[in-house]
Amino acid sequence: MTETVHPTTAIVTGSSKGIGAAIARRLARDGHAVVVNYARGAEEAAGVVAEIEAAGGRAVAVQADIGVADGITRLFDAAEKAFGPVGILVNNAGIMKLSPLANVSDADFEQHMAINVGGVFRGMREAANRLADGGRIISFSTSVVGMKLPGYGVYAATKAAVETMTHILAKELGGRKITVNAVAPGPVETELFLNGKSEELLAQLRGQNPQKRFGQPDDIARVVSFLAGPDGQWVSGQVIRANGGVV
Ligand SMILES: NC(=O)c1ccc[n+]([C@@H]2O[C@H](COP(=O)([O-])OP(=O)(O)OC[C@H]3O[C@@H](n4cnc5c(N)ncnc54)[C@H](OP(=O)(O)O)[C@@H]3O)[C@@H](O)[C@H]2O)c1
Repeated sequence: MTETVHPTTAIVTGSSKGIGAAIARRLARDGHAVVVNYARGAEEAAGVVAEIEAAGGRAVAVQADIGVADGITRLFDAAEKAFGPVGILVNNAGIMKLSPLANVSDADFEQHMAINVGGVFRGMREAANRLADGGRIISFSTSVVGMKLPGYGVYAATKAAVETMTHILAKELGGRKITVNAVAPGPVETELFLNGKSEELLAQLRGQNPQKRFGQPDDIARVVSFLAGPDGQWVSGQVIRANGGVV
């Protein structure tokens, strides 16, 4: 297998909005050709592609549900067809439904497992088999794995699984100079985080951060840019808690 050269082709799962959209824009600015993946947000994904192209970058939108068996495979097929061999996979797509453990339905548990664990597992497996040597795999955890807040039981458990697979895959792929890392944000102002929270609760949470603000998608995209770029080569098997110092 030949070694990845920078810039390369990057797949960002769940990049029609939120953190993923910021990562797609940033990686395109770094010179990579970007696959903007979405499950339902076709219009939003097309908007991200249009922004990237307007700024002189290269991108294509690809619909694929990462929670189902062939979603990731189709994504890699589409990426290779559009731009050639994939060098970077960002396993960003995820869902979060908060509830005390006692009230979590089987359906919600299974959905979290299918998308947050299954989608990342299949992404890692596909990348392990299809990424060129020297490639990058960056997955998404959460700072709640450390904070262990009530209501986050199932969601945080899925992200703990992501962290464990990250540490182990880094050892399995190190010989091919593929780095494998996870980014674990604290609160970032996106739909996933803001959904269902009152202004009062948001003010309280904002006040708990040492920097007295929430993260913005671009704060996280910068970390991904570093891990995906040439300067990140010696960082592997790590979980970076990008959260302004909250934990
Ligand atoms: N925001 C935070 O405070 C925070 C903190 C820690 C960790 N994180 C993690 O960061 C990642 C991004 O979160 P976010 O806040 O940006 O979320 P978001 O605003 O809800 O965006 C989620 C993205 O994932 C896509 N997606 C959801 N299910 C999918 C599926 N089955 N297949 C393909 N794409 C799917 C969505 O696309 P569609 O709309 O098309 O479905 C959307 O583009 C997640 O893994 C999340 O757990 C977020």
